[in-house]
Amino acid sequence: MKEMTSNSNQGFATRAIHQGYDPLDHQGALAPPVYMTSTFAFPDIANGGNRFAGEQEGYIYGRLGNPTQTLLEERMASLEGGEAALATASGMGAITSALWSLVKAGDEIIADKTLYGCTFAFLQHGMSKFGVNVRYVDMTQPEALAAAITDKTRVVYFETPSNPNNRLVDIQALVDIAHSRDLKVIVDNTYCTPYLQQPISLGADLVVHSATKYLGGHGDLVAGAVVGSQQDIDQIRLEGLKDMTGAVISPLDAFLIMRGLKTLELRMDRHCASAMAVAQQLQMHPLVERIHYPGLDSFDQHELACRQMRNFGGMIAFELVGGMEAGVHFMDALKLATRAVSLGDAETLVQHPASMTHSPYSAQERAEFGISDGLVRLSVGLETLDDIQEDIQRALDGLDRRSQVAVVA
Ligand SMILES: Cc1ncc(COP(=O)(O)O)c(C=O)c1O
Repeated sequence: MKEMTSNSNQGFATRAIHQGYDPLDHQGALAPPVYMTSTFAFPDIANGGNRFAGEQEGYIYGRLGNPTQTLLEERMASLEGGEAALATASGMGAITSALWSLVKAGDEIIADKTLYGCTFAFLQHGMSKFGVNVRYVDMTQPEALAAAITDKTRVVYFETPSNPNNRLVDIQALVDIAHSRDLKVIVDNTYCTPYLQQPISLGADLVVHSATKYLGGHGDLVAGAVVGSQQDIDQIRLEGLKDMTGAVISPLDAFLIMRGLKTLELRMDRHCASAMAVAQQLQMHPLVERIHYPGLDSFDQHELACRQMRNFGGMIAFELVGGMEAGVHFMDALKLATRAVSLGDAETLVQHPASMTHSPYSAQERAEFGISDGLVRLSVGLETLDDIQEDIQRALDGLDRRSQVAVVA
């Protein structure tokens, strides 16, 4: 598996815990203070005016930044290997703030065919209302991107692994094509986190995150982040976030994400190890028709996963013999796993993309974009592995019995 590089001599976990903060600068407080304030006092009017003009350092108003948010942004930039970061109120806030800043009416975005449902909804139903044309190509085939680029294209957008079916995109190959035509590449790195994959080190311009997921890690907040060059992040903060989306993160949520980051490495190692064991368990079962997990030798992009990712993540997608009906019975039979959307939490979560996270796609679009009605998405949690596997085994055994009864009947 791939060795990760970093922009600092300190290790990933050290930076996730310490970057940008010295307790002795804050009354000795080990945990950084939460600045619960909406606005900031100016010593005098001239100073306030200078801050607005960008001629003097200093906080102005909560929608433009807050010291708790700044610390989180410094940590995220360091962990992703970018110059700067912007923390936002949600993953969709990160995605929309970035895209609104980079395109205008008449421009074109080329996106991968498989995306998180609300990202697809934003591109398909949101952007198009404002004269931005979005086209979808299968980015597992880099030549499809090369063929699709026109003079109007400005941005290339994809997730890898993609939600919900774990398709991988070769970041470096896509970046080479996009940069040869002067396009910006945005990668949604939510599934991997910077611990497993660093798109900027492979040439991507911007990385977006739903920090609601592994970064926060405890299912208790909604937040997002964008990481990239100082120039791009300044533009996204001052145009996309300040004036267009207003998707400002709460200082308390910024603090909670930093608490999550402290254990990110530990948690991801556990998510990956348990997901690999569960994927192998599922693969062995005769009622599992197809499984999508990048760590399995049988995964058709396994070689790319080894090249691009440190480890294979905590997300599994699979289809059962018996399609959607079998999938629904399986999910309803689980007792430990929670039937809920979202992912990356301590709790194992299971959901049905076609009727839930990917319902913004029409049935026809799902069929065309490879999101089958029978697909089950599992976010493998941090519980004792034996308990997760026993729960899954019991639910699969229940299906086994149902199929035997069906044969007898
Ligand atoms: C891959 C991916 N990107 C973006 C988002 C949107 O993030 P949020 O729900 O924090 O707005 C999600 C949410 O599920 C996601 O899975």
